[in-house]
Amino acid sequence: MSWPTDSELTAIKEAVSKMTGRDTGEVRVVVAPYRICPLGAHIDHQGGAVSAMTINKGILLGFIPSGDTQVQLRSAQFEGEVCFRVDEIQHPIGVANKNGASKDKSIWGTYARGALYALQTSKKNLKQGIVGCISGSDGLDSSGLSSSAAVGVAYLLALENANELTVSPTENIEYDRLIENGYLGLRNGILDQSAILLSSFGCLTYMNCKTMDHKLVRAPEFKKPFRILLAFSGLRQALTTNPGYNLRVAECQEAAKVLLTASGNSELEPTLCNVEHAVYEAHMHELKPVLARRAEHYFSENMRVTKGLEAWASGNLEEFGKLISASGLSSIENYECGAEPLIQLYKILLKAPGVYGARFSGAGFRGCCLAFVDAEEAEAAASYVKDEYEKAQPEFAKKLNGGKPVLICEAGDSARVL
Ligand code: GLA
Repeated sequence: MSWPTDSELTAIKEAVSKMTGRDTGEVRVVVAPYRICPLGAHIDHQGGAVSAMTINKGILLGFIPSGDTQVQLRSAQFEGEVCFRVDEIQHPIGVANKNGASKDKSIWGTYARGALYALQTSKKNLKQGIVGCISGSDGLDSSGLSSSAAVGVAYLLALENANELTVSPTENIEYDRLIENGYLGLRNGILDQSAILLSSFGCLTYMNCKTMDHKLVRAPEFKKPFRILLAFSGLRQALTTNPGYNLRVAECQEAAKVLLTASGNSELEPTLCNVEHAVYEAHMHELKPVLARRAEHYFSENMRVTKGLEAWASGNLEEFGKLISASGLSSIENYECGAEPLIQLYKILLKAPGVYGARFSGAGFRGCCLAFVDAEEAEAAASYVKDEYEKAQPEFAKKLNGGKPVLICEAGDSARVL
């Protein structure tokens, strides 16, 4: 189950060798895994606490320093070639709306330019470009596993490596934030890239998105081994009727503003992490119902993260799973962000054999649901979910993931250059 496999590495090295005429032995490879967030959904942008880990699937970026300022990129999934120079000044393009615009196939090179933008903005002087080829794990882009952050991190690591820059994971968390918030205009938090850059095999990553404090909580001997189940909805482009990601962020801020004003703290930045829990309890009735639901999600989700860390550390997967499912329910009822097929998948997963807990992965507008499942029952759970989802959503199920509607994964490691 180890990732990347030798054949995946060989394929990416050969692709770069073909582009450059250089030996495969000279090709460096960035490994940037996808992430899951069992607990701590939709609260990173409000400075909340999150938990995360990576999986044994993700992005590979094979590259060779170009020897001049040129960047030349190909993709194993998308057509065309992306070319630019590292001394071309990049400006924000602001296209992201979490409804797919920034993930448009025709602009797959956007994240590479975004990485250059982030490094230029941070006064990291690049003298050299890369010639490279990028490849994602089969069928897993646009799945709520944060392939976009994995791509952004991959370009950052490759450009830094080619220019012999020493950059800490914390700095790269900020650079990836600059790609998403600054270059693309998406108001997301730092969960995705923190998970990708900080995670370590066998641990749950905890991150306080306000203070940037983080820790790795090693898994104890669980009574039984677990697997991570990913169940795909077949929804790749978000429904146009779905309220966008940025709208939810604005609602959270509106709730924070009301609560801070009510408690005489209107000078503070309107972010929910600046609202004390006691203030929320005292003034929640002053919030309009929709804002009250967003705030309730924030405060209850922070609590689930704290309890979840304890459950994980003490090896209590049953309790950990229950919290994940409660988090999923709060995303549906309070944060109101799940598309119908994802909500159906969530409910199906909760009934599947051996499942400890489930929720949708990522922002919930498309992609997949994740579940923690008893390793021995993982196959049975996968086939149950496949059958039930085919009944619930025959059209989406037909289009699924090259015939693989459910994937059984294991935890992964952090992003690195091989
Ligand atoms: C997306 C965003 C993250 C986070 C999650 C939801 O993946 O990029 O910042 O908000 O959704 O938890």
